Amino acid sequence: MKEIRDLNILAIETSCDETAAAVVHNGREVLSNIISSQIDLHKLYGGVVPEIASRKHIEKINQVIEEALKEADVTLDDIDVVGVTYGPGLVGALLVGVAEAKAIAFARDLPLVGVHHIEGHISANYIEHQELEPPFLCLVASGGHTHLVCVREYGSYEILGRTRDDAAGEAYDKVARAIGLGYPGGPKIDRLAKEGNPDAVKFPKAHIDGAEYDFSFSGLKSAVLNYINGCKMKGENFDPADIAASFQKAVVEVLVENSMKAVDDLDLYKFAIAGGVASNTALRAAMKQACKEKGVKFYYPSPVYCTDNAAMIGAAAFYDYLGGTQHGWDLNAVPNLKLGER
Ligand code: KG4
Ligand code: ZN
Repeated sequence: MKEIRDLNILAIETSCDETAAAVVHNGREVLSNIISSQIDLHKLYGGVVPEIASRKHIEKINQVIEEALKEADVTLDDIDVVGVTYGPGLVGALLVGVAEAKAIAFARDLPLVGVHHIEGHISANYIEHQELEPPFLCLVASGGHTHLVCVREYGSYEILGRTRDDAAGEAYDKVARAIGLGYPGGPKIDRLAKEGNPDAVKFPKAHIDGAEYDFSFSGLKSAVLNYINGCKMKGENFDPADIAASFQKAVVEVLVENSMKAVDDLDLYKFAIAGGVASNTALRAAMKQACKEKGVKFYYPSPVYCTDNAAMIGAAAFYDYLGGTQHGWDLNAVPNLKLGER
């Protein structure tokens, strides 16, 4: 590991539909965190349109970086390292951030550090929990991923379980569409579920034999769609709030059960959540309770650091850089990058 000195990292994130830049000091202190969301644009199409996302990133990226520097009250002269998400994600979207980061690093003769997006989500926990250090367990649940990860040490990840089909956030988004809530569905279901009865409909929870940490959400999603279609065919009314609450209960219970099994098996007393779904109020409450019952310390980022942002990339880039990671000018976007690959 390199010696920690005062390192300012300019971090860039463009893997999906947020154009984001941040300045992060020594991995844990966020000097600025600017996010330009494209949600309003993609809402019109019911989901992210990759071509539109790339074009919007190109339009916004310079402005977002300028704002991040201004808000941090620094100039490029004060930046020591440039960090950027290079995968996984939408290839055209990733390329905008990667090209921008390479251009700045090359022009300023700065080290360039490519970051794995999921590693960024996990590292979001370092920002508000100064005392958190590996080893710990982390559930990463986002629109594209559902991973149960053991963080052995900084930059070292063991994937214990993953989804076999849909990601948790993807299931939220699809169910939300089916009950007419629109995109992105997660926050809308979260809100609506508070008005519904979680025991109104019994939806199935998938557990996979022989792979007790893995997840599967496509069966649950189909069960919700079948239930709605069944009601429509019979001319019966259904209450969207009850469906939202019952669906959410099934998702949250599986996420908590698998996570707590890993906590028991690995005998680790620190557990964190990350990713867009980690901002879900029901999941946060259930995890908090489950961790409390086991005497496990529970960590979770503020909602702004759960969904896509660049501060989390700055936190991850710091520890990667200290661990010796530095990329060359041939760094490319890797849409299916595996966690732990360099
Ligand atoms: O981490 P993220 O911003 O992007 C990816 O890396 O995918 O996660 C976005 C996902 C979307 O599927 C969105 O519906 C979900 O996170 N999400 C939520 C909530 N807020 C965002 N899901 C459930 N409850 C929420 N409050
Ligand atoms: Zn993400």
